[in-house]
Amino acid sequence: MTTIKLLLLPGDGIGPEVMAEVEKIIGVFASEGAANFEIEKGLVGGCAYDAHGQAISDSDMALAGAADAVLLAAVGGPKWDAVPYDVRPEAGLLRLRKELALYANLRPAICYPALASASSLKREVVEGLDIMIVRELTGGVYFGEPKQIFDLGNGQKRAIDTQVYDTFEIERIGRTAFELARKRGNKVTSSEKRNVMKSGVLWHEVMIALHKREYPDVKLEHQLADALGMQLVRWPKQFDVIVTDNLFGDMLSDVAAMLTGSLGMLPSASLGDVDPKSGRRRALYEPVHGSAPDIAGKGLANPIAMIGSFGMALRYSFGLNAAADRLDAAIARVLETGLRTADIRGEGDRLVSTGEMGDAIAAELGRNPG
Ligand code: IPM
Ligand code: MG
Repeated sequence: MTTIKLLLLPGDGIGPEVMAEVEKIIGVFASEGAANFEIEKGLVGGCAYDAHGQAISDSDMALAGAADAVLLAAVGGPKWDAVPYDVRPEAGLLRLRKELALYANLRPAICYPALASASSLKREVVEGLDIMIVRELTGGVYFGEPKQIFDLGNGQKRAIDTQVYDTFEIERIGRTAFELARKRGNKVTSSEKRNVMKSGVLWHEVMIALHKREYPDVKLEHQLADALGMQLVRWPKQFDVIVTDNLFGDMLSDVAAMLTGSLGMLPSASLGDVDPKSGRRRALYEPVHGSAPDIAGKGLANPIAMIGSFGMALRYSFGLNAAADRLDAAIARVLETGLRTADIRGEGDRLVSTGEMGDAIAAELGRNPG
């Protein structure tokens, strides 16, 4: 039996609650003998700061590097508002992304039929939606230097963030997008702000050249990032794969999340290059939502984005596509029965807690063994 080494980083806020639900799902697959799951746990975010003054420790970084996949729930909260910038909770997440070189962030936005009315948009706009946002994750303004606040000495300060992209960074995320498109609707929409940003000019040029050279069979379109934001809420079904930089991808994926009914529905995968020797690829799976400190500890959180992130791990790290399909189907069926956490509840639905939702999905999965 294959052994799969997982590092679980529940983090802060609702993180531990949604991670507990994933453990139930792992338990179902383990009891079926799908794989031998070796589970370790670590700290990231505010809880890591409380424990050892860092947003993630070197030993947990080493565990992350040795794992076949990392599952992370969420980081941050008002409790850590005043901690120094370089050890703020988010720094742990950014360190994982950067040091593990997880440059490709896949954020699928799928509207389950049962949830079409949970979206703030009209049913016909979102029903059947299936798009994939491919966000560049280790470059751009998140990591560009200088990144600093200067004292100008005249009572003024100046803040600088640097947006920077090299050709190879644009090419490799472009390849990720084109490869995915070939397995889906065969269309890529590349998005930047070349009308005001030099990094956008280069992004656009590199995408066109890459397309011509390696992927002429895929349809390529371009939309300025502001216009794409508008199109996402106007007629999102025009998109198949969207590829964009780190900051635009952050914003546009939150917009896309609401098309699916709730931020609590969107999973994500952050992937590095395949190592030619081991065939392994570093990977971290996390929901798009944050730590939601306002509802933490109340059993109100929706565990579906976290469970769906584990489904992406089955698919993208372990090639267990049939298991991933079963998990997606179990989520869809539970939603069809009308069970809803508070964030996706509509008229006539049955409100359930985080734990009840996880139990229902695990039970549904167990009823349809592979
Ligand atoms: C996300 C989050 C993070 C980001 C934060 C928590 C640093 O918003 O994963 O979308 O900005 O990338
Ligand atoms: Mg975000």
